[in-house]
Amino acid sequence: MNRETLIAPSILSADFSRMGEGIRDINESGADWVHIDIMDGRFVPPITFGHQMVSALRPLTDRVFDVHLMVENPDSQLDAFAGAGADYLTVHQETVVHLHRTLDRIRELGCRPGVSIVPSTPVSLLREVLPLVDLVLIMTVNPGFGGQKMIPACLDKVRELRRLREEKGMEWLVSIDGGVNQGTLGMVREAAPDVLVAGSAFFSAPDRAEFVRNFK
Ligand code: DX5
Ligand code: ZN
Repeated sequence: MNRETLIAPSILSADFSRMGEGIRDINESGADWVHIDIMDGRFVPPITFGHQMVSALRPLTDRVFDVHLMVENPDSQLDAFAGAGADYLTVHQETVVHLHRTLDRIRELGCRPGVSIVPSTPVSLLREVLPLVDLVLIMTVNPGFGGQKMIPACLDKVRELRRLREEKGMEWLVSIDGGVNQGTLGMVREAAPDVLVAGSAFFSAPDRAEFVRNFK
């Protein structure tokens, strides 16, 4: 199946003192989703923001909210993020023991379940849960910070997942997150993920609409 590439700017690289303007920039650029990085200072070193930020931004756009939970014990926060208006809710495989339960709960809450893996985690660890998800988020950097250099070997996981999806006739989207910029665009295109998360490259682009057109 041929899918259009979706662009998901990450507000981690927006100006935190003017988050509403960051959303306006995303609206005006023609990007498809808003990627929202939730960090708890435990699974990853920084703390960003919580479900209150998602609620505050929700009225500003009808774009899909792609919430990436980089937190320990995400189960305790699923209800809050669903209530705040998340569309996709993605948890890390490395943070959840009972992934079936977590992913089922996300769907029960009316959101689309996603699962993510860090660069050192192989795709094979997702095998049992792939039938339960709508999104697989491949980290192409070690999570925690914007503006890092992509680890190109992670793009092989995108190819592996696309093969698996084809073989099994599944429908989830494959997203990549970390180091997506003009310099990596060539190898990203070859791997052909469905969704591109871009933080620093999007918010530092002189013309964001052109950035989106170029990456589609
Ligand atoms: C990193 C976050 C990313 C981050 C990507 O842990 O999950 O979403 O915003 O930033 P860039 O695109 O600058 O690598
Ligand atoms: Zn992210």
